[in-house]
Order: sequence, then C-alpha cells, then structure tokens
Amino acid sequence: MGNANAAEELSSTAQALVAPGKGILAADESTGTIEKRFKSISVPSTEENRRRYRQMLFTTGRIGDHVSGAILYDETIRQKGSDGTPFPEVLRRAGVIPGIKVDTGTKPLPGCPNEVVTEGLDGLRERLAGYRDLGARFAKWRAVITIGDGLPTETCLHVNAHALARYAALCQEALLVPIVEPEVLMDGAHPIERCYEVTRSALDTVFAELRFQRVRLEGMLLKPNMVIAGGKCPRQASVQDVARETVCCLRRTVPASVPGIVFLSGGQSDVVATEHLDAMNRIGPHPWRLSFSYGRALQHPAMAAWKGEPSRVPAAQKIFFHRARMNGAAAAGKYSAALEREAAAAS
Ligand code: 13P
Repeated sequence: MGNANAAEELSSTAQALVAPGKGILAADESTGTIEKRFKSISVPSTEENRRRYRQMLFTTGRIGDHVSGAILYDETIRQKGSDGTPFPEVLRRAGVIPGIKVDTGTKPLPGCPNEVVTEGLDGLRERLAGYRDLGARFAKWRAVITIGDGLPTETCLHVNAHALARYAALCQEALLVPIVEPEVLMDGAHPIERCYEVTRSALDTVFAELRFQRVRLEGMLLKPNMVIAGGKCPRQASVQDVARETVCCLRRTVPASVPGIVFLSGGQSDVVATEHLDAMNRIGPHPWRLSFSYGRALQHPAMAAWKGEPSRVPAAQKIFFHRARMNGAAAAGKYSAALEREAAAAS
C-alpha cells in the first residue's frame, strides 16, 4: 500500500474509533488481571470461562450503537464464539473494530526503586503483522507512572515515552492505529494539583518522543488518565474541577492533529467516570474528540450481574448495554442523572 493510502487508512480508522457518541471497550485484561476480577465474583479463571465472559460482552445486542472498538488480549483474539465464529469476526459483524493489547506488561525499572517500565518491543514487528492477519485494526500499549515521594523520576517518564513511541511507529508501519496510553496512577494521597503536574510532564515527554520518532499524529489516539486527586486524598475534587483541570492539561500538551483522546477509568466508579467524561464534553468545543476506552467502568456492573451463570447472560448484557449507552451520551456531552435513571428503569 502506498504511503498516502496507508496514512488515509490509519486516520480513517482512528476517526471511526472516536465516531460521535461512541467509544472503546477495553476487554484486554491479562490472564492475571482477569483472574483477580473473576475472584471477586467467585468464578474460576479457566480459558472457557474467560471465553464465555468475553462472548457475553461481544454478543450484546446493538453493542455497535455505542461501542466503536474493543481491545482484546492475545488469548481472546484467537478465541471463538460458541458457533465457531472467531471473536474478531463477531465484533466486525456487530460494527465494532477489533483491537489488541500488544505490550507484555511491566517490569521493575533498574536504578529507579518503585517504578516500572513496560516491555514488549522485541519481536513486535512480527507480532503486529500476525495480529493484523487475525483482524486487528488498532493496538494498545500501556505505560505506568506512579506518583510518590520524589516520583516519578525523569528516567521513568523518558524510558516509557521512548517505548511508547517505538511501539506507535511500528504499529503505523503495520497499518494498526496505535493507542498511546501513559497512565498516571490514581493510587496515593496526593492532591489534584500534583496529578496535574505529573500528567503534564508525562504528556509533554510522550509527544516529544512521538515527534522525534516520526509518528503521524493524525493516525493515533491518546489514552490518558484524567487529572484527579489520589484515591486516598482527603480533599477529593468535584466533577467540575476534574473536568476543567483535565481539559486544561490536555490543551497545553496534546496537538490538535490528534483526532481523539479516549480516557481510561483507572479505578473510578462507573457512574463517576461517566460524569467526568460528560462534564469535559460540556465545556467544549475541543480540538479533538473526547471519549472513553474504559475497562472496569464499563464492565464492572455487568460482570457482577453475570456471576458466571449462563442464565444470567441476558440480564448482564442489558446492564452492559446501559453503561455503554450512558458513556456514549457522555461522549456527546448529553448525559444526565435523569437519563441514567430513565434508561435503567426501562431496561
Ligand atoms: P480501566 O478503565 O479499568 O482503567 O482499564 C482501561 C485500560 O485499558 C487500562 O490499560
């Protein structure tokens, strides 16, 4: 494919992922993480249970009305629905673009106690080609930045930004839209101002590396944390403050050529994550689309309703659809408590 066609394909996929009123389902929990989530509902984490759970999500009726793309894990992209249809095809038929998590997790960062670096660059070019053959059209790589006493170090910000840019450049070569995810964790007792400072440095470092490594900003999406007080901070910020600080931080760091910003939920409760996204869209217009790429905030209530029981699949799907619809409304700045209640009552 020529350069112009490749650039065109990447930007049209990126734009489709942030189509009005739609966002991304992050269903790419590693085997270790999904085991933790299943433990909370007392379901053993077997390969078949993981398949049945993801099938419940992906076969939700009209999922494509509010979900533009779904991020899968290596095991998941190779699994099939009960009728033998591969999951990427199940999604494609529902109007959902299949994506894939391609980092291989974090390891301690040498010389930087309590900090981590994300791995997965070795052999990445070949793995990306394989994922594209399996139907993936976008990818995700998550870097983790911890706030603490003297943390993050410049070293941590720099090595993680370098790896994110290496990954993003390789994705674009393979015709996969890179979702670039530098997550500043909300763990800790720090105030919102500290999260603002760290997020701003992290994003500045990431965009400097992306430019240096010639990543085309039109053909990527950013997946950041919101600017929010640490979970243990006694002074929690209001929804309006989180929206204002987050938008301010992004306007100072993210070029307008990036088509969309899709937030992670990072441990926020499901309704609060929706409220924050809605509040940000209400203070627009913005140069980029602001939408969601939620894992826990989209799945948590549905997983709790499912409990591993086949008979509970329809009820869990209704709950999942409801959350997706509420976040779709928030992505358009049209969410309200009344809509939350009405839609819940009707479902
Ligand atoms: P959460 O929304 O649960 O933070 O998950 C999103 C994600 O993909 C983290 O990498």
